[in-house]
Amino acid sequence: MIQAFHVAKQYDRESSALADVTLHVKKGEFCFLTGPSGAGKTTFLKLVFREEIPSAGQILVAGRNVTAIPEAQIPELRRQVGVVFQDFKLLKRRTVLENVAFVLRILGVPAKEQKRRAFAALKAVGLHHKLHAFPLQLSGGEQQRVAIARALINEPMLLLADEPTGNLDPEMASEIMKLFEEVNARGTTVLVATHDREMIQRMGRRVITIERGRVASQ
Ligand SMILES: Nc1ncnc2c1ncn2[C@@H]1O[C@H](COP(=O)(O)OP(=O)(O)O)[C@@H](O)[C@H]1O
Ligand SMILES: [Mg+2]
Repeated sequence: MIQAFHVAKQYDRESSALADVTLHVKKGEFCFLTGPSGAGKTTFLKLVFREEIPSAGQILVAGRNVTAIPEAQIPELRRQVGVVFQDFKLLKRRTVLENVAFVLRILGVPAKEQKRRAFAALKAVGLHHKLHAFPLQLSGGEQQRVAIARALINEPMLLLADEPTGNLDPEMASEIMKLFEEVNARGTTVLVATHDREMIQRMGRRVITIERGRVASQ
C-alpha cells in the first residue's frame, strides 16, 4: 500500500527532516510509525498524502507514484487516503453531521446522499446520537471519533493518523485504537504515527521506528 524508497525531505538548507527512509506497508496492515519528537513522523505522513513533496526518493501509494502525480490528480488521492490529526481539526461552527458531510458537499454529492453517508460513518464510530451537537459540546474522545468518521466517509483504502490520541486520556485513547482496529478489520490499511510506547506495546502490531530521519527498526 505504501512503498517508500530512499525518501529525503529538507524544509530548509540547514536541516533535514527525513534523511533516507525506505519502508513498506502492506495492503491490509495495521502498523505504527514511532520515534522521538522531531524524528520525522509527521513529515513522512505528509509526504504520503502529498501535503509535502520529498526532496529525494519516491513514494508509491497503491502503486501510484505520489511524488509525480499532477496537481489535478491530488483530489483523487485524497479521496482514497483518510487522515486524522492530533487536534481533530473540526469546524467549530458546524454540527457533527455537517463536519462529516463537508467533504461530500465539496465533491458535489447530492444533499440526501451526503446525509445518508455521513450518518452511516457516524454510526460506525458510535456517534449517530450526536448528529446535531457542535464539536465543543463533545468530549475529546468524541471529537476524535467525529474526525475519524470524516476521514472514513469516502471509504479510503488507507487511513493515516498523526498522534491521534495525543490529546486524550488513556481510556479514550484505547477506544480510539479499538476503532482503528475495526476499520482495519473491514479492509482499510492503517498507519498510526505516535510516540506513545505504552500504547504501541499494548496493541502488539508491527512497529516502524524512525530516528533522526532514518528507519532505525521495523
Ligand atoms: N514546515 C516545516 N518547516 C521547517 N522545518 C520543519 C517543518 N516541519 C517539520 N520540520 C522539522 O523537521 C523535523 C521533523 O519534524 P516532524 O516530521 O514534525 O517530526 P515528528 O512528527 O516525528 O515529531 C523537525 O526537526 C522539525 O523541526
Ligand atoms: Mg509529529
